[in-house]
Amino acid sequence: MFAVSAVRFDADDPLNGLEAGERPEPEVPEGWTTVTVRAASLNHHDLWSLRGVGLREEQLPMILGCDAAGVDEDGNEVIVHAVIGDPDRGGGDETLDPRRSLLSERYPGTFAEKVAVPRRNLVPKPKELSFEEAACLPTAWLTAYRMLFEKSGLEPGSTILVQGAGGGVATALIALGAAAGYRIWATSRSEAKRKRALELGADAVFESGARLPERVDGVMETVGQATWAHSVKSLRPGGRIVTCGATTGQQPGAELNRVFFTQLSVVGSTMGTRDQLVRLARFLAVTGVRPPIDRVLPLAEARQGLEAMARGDLFGKIVLTV
Ligand SMILES: NC(=O)c1ccc[n+]([C@@H]2O[C@H](COP(=O)([O-])OP(=O)(O)OC[C@H]3O[C@@H](n4cnc5c(N)ncnc54)[C@H](OP(=O)(O)O)[C@@H]3O)[C@@H](O)[C@H]2O)c1
Repeated sequence: MFAVSAVRFDADDPLNGLEAGERPEPEVPEGWTTVTVRAASLNHHDLWSLRGVGLREEQLPMILGCDAAGVDEDGNEVIVHAVIGDPDRGGGDETLDPRRSLLSERYPGTFAEKVAVPRRNLVPKPKELSFEEAACLPTAWLTAYRMLFEKSGLEPGSTILVQGAGGGVATALIALGAAAGYRIWATSRSEAKRKRALELGADAVFESGARLPERVDGVMETVGQATWAHSVKSLRPGGRIVTCGATTGQQPGAELNRVFFTQLSVVGSTMGTRDQLVRLARFLAVTGVRPPIDRVLPLAEARQGLEAMARGDLFGKIVLTV
């Protein structure tokens, strides 16, 4: 089958290790099933994989891609939950299974004509969502859902700052947060992206690092080193940062004085459960909220999409069709 894989690692030039071509169909262990992929979406995770983060040399070539929507063996339209884990080993939450992985970390990913997954990882695709829209949900949108509705501990009406407005997770945070009644403020380095963030539902937008008119109740962090100090400074006493990513580096100054003096919380968040993916899909069907899709490309042109992502030249999700 045709697939897009990482064949070598290059920390400085991740696209150097990308290859599109024929790969064997995935093995289907007991209790697993296959999905014929109709659409897949890119995540920063795919660039990390090409850089060698989270993968070992002996696992190469590895088919990339965490996210997909497609058709199962019985002809049902499904969304593929990207977390391969056992809820029993994680105290009821597969993301807390110490052995959990995401598609493309241990098992072949979704940038292919077919992907194999445990049966429990299939989630019905609401008919209101296209395959392209549904393929945006399993990683970026599910992560945003958990950050906002589970980890932030904040009720609607609270003010939430989203750093780096253009990213896949950030656009999901803006759209979901606005629809749920939060006052969403967003930062971006780009004026064009700030304007798009307003159109998406942000209440106000600011240049990255700008002083805010007042301190916020919560900050949603995916950027890391470049925005961390600003995130800490922007919180009201007792406020909370929820972090799920560190695109610009994972070792910012910890700002400990400010963390303890103003009694801040820093909370980590990763992906979400299958049940949360079901509720996220329903949230979109009910509210009419849809993922902003920056562009749709054929699978064979994945390179073009990953290059745009590496440059930060995107607003929302990049989708591949199969
Ligand atoms: N833990 C999890 O489960 C999980 C799930 C999904 C993603 N993540 C992580 O979260 C991060 C974002 O993922 P994504 O897929 O949303 O990535 P993405 O689409 O590539 O998002 C990148 C965004 O980061 C901002 N950014 C990049 N460099 C910046 C800089 N120097 N200063 C300020 N902002 C900068 C940009 O915002 P502007 O251009 O608007 O300034 C850009 O839009 C990644 O590191 C990813 O690995 C983790």
